Amino acid sequence: MRIDFSNLLSDRVGEHGLDPGFIKEYESKIIDFHRDLVSKRKAGELPFLELPYQDVSRIISLAEEVRSSFDAFVVIGIGGSGLGNVMLQNALNPVFYNELPKEKRGPKFYVLDNVDPEKLSGLLNVIDLERTCFNVISKSGSTSETMANFLIIHNLLREKGVNGPKQIIITTDPEKGDLLAIAKEKGFRTLVVPPGVGGRFSVLTDVGLFPAAVAGLDIKALLQGAGEMDKHTSKELLSENPAYLLAITHYLLNRDKGKSISVLMPYSERLYSFADWYRQLWAESLGKDGKGQTPIKALGTVDQHSQIQLYNSGPNDKVITFLKVEEFASDFTLSNEFPGYKACGYFEGHKLSDILNSAQIGTTTALTKKQRPNMCITLNRITAQNIGKLIYLYEVATAFSGYLYEINPFDQPGVEDGKKAMYALLGREGYAEQADEVRKFASSEDGFVLEV
Ligand code: PA5
Repeated sequence: MRIDFSNLLSDRVGEHGLDPGFIKEYESKIIDFHRDLVSKRKAGELPFLELPYQDVSRIISLAEEVRSSFDAFVVIGIGGSGLGNVMLQNALNPVFYNELPKEKRGPKFYVLDNVDPEKLSGLLNVIDLERTCFNVISKSGSTSETMANFLIIHNLLREKGVNGPKQIIITTDPEKGDLLAIAKEKGFRTLVVPPGVGGRFSVLTDVGLFPAAVAGLDIKALLQGAGEMDKHTSKELLSENPAYLLAITHYLLNRDKGKSISVLMPYSERLYSFADWYRQLWAESLGKDGKGQTPIKALGTVDQHSQIQLYNSGPNDKVITFLKVEEFASDFTLSNEFPGYKACGYFEGHKLSDILNSAQIGTTTALTKKQRPNMCITLNRITAQNIGKLIYLYEVATAFSGYLYEINPFDQPGVEDGKKAMYALLGREGYAEQADEVRKFASSEDGFVLEV
């Protein structure tokens, strides 16, 4: 993996970039933060850092059983309990995986996160309930969306009188929560979200690993990659630590150069959901006390025809990170089908991936010329190992950014506020006091409203 920070520096993008002296300037401060992080890690306060070293044999044997028993597998979970699953599935299985012939894949794979009735009915249209395994994932064991979808699925299964406890697997806190109690009461099998690992840091726990194994992904390689990155992100020196560099460059560009937006733009369809996963990690971890940086996702080349005009010539308030792949799992060489046509001839002999990667270089050049700071992470190939590395890199960078912004990157009081308001509105026990306030804000009486 190559991480190229060059175009974040002032010698490339002028006053909009960082003075290369920032590394020296911040070195000792970073060492202080690093030592604090190391002592917290030693004290067991940062369990997400130890995830590469877990035993996954139970996950693998349960996944094998599910793979051989069901035609479809549905994750019911949202936020940190859903996005990592979409990311792993899209990154590591072929595009249009569910459409592959049965012998070339495991169970069809779906994630039910939203509570949109049409999404649920769309899912029910394409699965055979009796041949589907449902993995309900919720760390808190009470998130409204997850519980609501689960209740409907459970009701349908019960009414059909099918298969029973084997069809439902619960992933939740090992000690507390209603979901755990329900699982015990009904005899559903359980997997664990380890205490101390927050939702958005949980993709390398049972939350992401079990569904990945059901989808046939190499979860040992994923963890091995994360462990390899740990060797780099454990380094004390800022100049040698990719996670600390990622964190501080983004922090300084935000604080000193007004880059309040961070765009992650993969030039790879398979990596597009990684940008979704990153958006949650960066937004929910760092958006606190009026601080943070707005994460945006974009896709190359598609968004060259949608967003790039703005990134190039609109407000210079963004730092853009490209994700690039050197060698694709499959490729095509173009021939000159229509000789004599200028729009076609120059493609002859080029691979489709050359066109994609040339577009990325073209975009980088154009942005750099306009003093728009940008950086690039290049994967030689999209493999489980490389995705493990990338996940770990971004998790450490996010956690470390907490020191720079002086906020706690592991809580999410803003998310919890919204959850509580929703509970109050829907009449959940214990939230009645908040209901009046919620109704007041939700009401359009005396508001600024136009009925048309
Ligand atoms: O990162 C987080 O903690 C949140 O985004 C949660 O993942 C999300 O709200 C879902 O919570 P839970 O897993 O408790 O259902």
